[in-house]
Amino acid sequence: MTAPVRTRTSEELIRAEEPVLAHNYHPLPVVVARAEGAWVEDVEGRRYLDMLAGYSALNFGHRHPALIDAAHAQLDRLTLTSRAFHNDRLAEFAERLARLTGQDMVLPMNTGAEAVESGIKVARKWAYEVKGVPADRATIVVADGNFHGRTTTVVSFSTDETARSGFGPFTPGFRIVPYNDLAALEAAIDETTAAVLIEPIQGEAGVIVPDDGYLAGVRELTRRAGCLFVADEIQSGLGRTGRTLAVEHENVVPDVVLLGKALGGGIVPVSAVVGRREVLGVLRPGEHGSTFGGNPLAAAVGTAVVELLETGEFQLRAAELGAVLREELDALLGRGVVAFRARGLWAGVDVDPAIGTGREISERLMREGILVKDTHGSTIRLAPPLTVTEAELRAALASLAKVLAA
Ligand SMILES: Cc1ncc(COP(=O)(O)O)c(C=O)c1O
Repeated sequence: MTAPVRTRTSEELIRAEEPVLAHNYHPLPVVVARAEGAWVEDVEGRRYLDMLAGYSALNFGHRHPALIDAAHAQLDRLTLTSRAFHNDRLAEFAERLARLTGQDMVLPMNTGAEAVESGIKVARKWAYEVKGVPADRATIVVADGNFHGRTTTVVSFSTDETARSGFGPFTPGFRIVPYNDLAALEAAIDETTAAVLIEPIQGEAGVIVPDDGYLAGVRELTRRAGCLFVADEIQSGLGRTGRTLAVEHENVVPDVVLLGKALGGGIVPVSAVVGRREVLGVLRPGEHGSTFGGNPLAAAVGTAVVELLETGEFQLRAAELGAVLREELDALLGRGVVAFRARGLWAGVDVDPAIGTGREISERLMREGILVKDTHGSTIRLAPPLTVTEAELRAALASLAKVLAA
């Protein structure tokens, strides 16, 4: 790999962004120039362990060789056709993704928010055509504290004022209930309900793991009520929790699963709605689509991702290293850590607010060569690539211990 010619320092690049980039993010002051596996390197050559992994878009690490090879090979052959024509990569991607997730059909899209939007459209159409809900009366039940993306419809049912405020008018048709509360969910479902849309673990909310039995309960309630269970596994899915899907921890098969992030292997945006034939089968030509969804480059990378997950190796790593993560966090309880929630290689860690905000802790960790992301208040989120080694993971937690003790 030849180094690109550098004309500006990290500091200069950060300053250069200010007047020309919309200020919808507040990144840590690190300018990444290259990466490999669980490690990134900044413009000046400083190395950092990536404990965020692109919000789980980098479950297989940066530039996993099998994924890079698949992308390179496809770049040399065919990159885009649009769905006006067939391409020779899409059938295999859909077949293998459906098999991996135990579903029948695949609707390929690009970003997570698009998959959520598509899931909502499919659920509404199913409600009108199959369930018999009167026109324009369909409702979807969602959970408090959700994060499903940033489009106008999706923020319509967000409970985060920062994400919503200033973006109305909002899309109607959503009912919000407390997360992890089956009685409230049951009370909100009626004959207009097309679907219950939830995250099996709420990632952005701080890795909120519901009680055992909640997901099975959602499955049972939706089955009895004759509405769909739509699981947003965009962040929780594809190996992160120690299973292919987080719903597998309760042996639950939803009607529709939303996937994104890691499906693109950290290379291209790839998302998908996967579901039962009776549900996805409601879509007919012209009713929904995307210029880029299902493009051959995305399908080639997505197929290579599915191939990695078919081995079971990454799910196993997440489970085994998850035990290490839990052990290390247990040792920090009362030593700067107030509480934590973890499943697989994914944790939300509540730091004692007296020590600092999540942002301040993240900045201190950055100076120790560890990249993490804060979420609400004094919570930081740990989600390293599933390729991280045990030694790297323990070193990252040792750095956290050092920062908390300082
Ligand atoms: C559970 C969940 N759904 C949807 C999204 C939106 O994905 P994207 O940013 O690709 O639109 C996210 C992103 O963080 C997510 O965590």
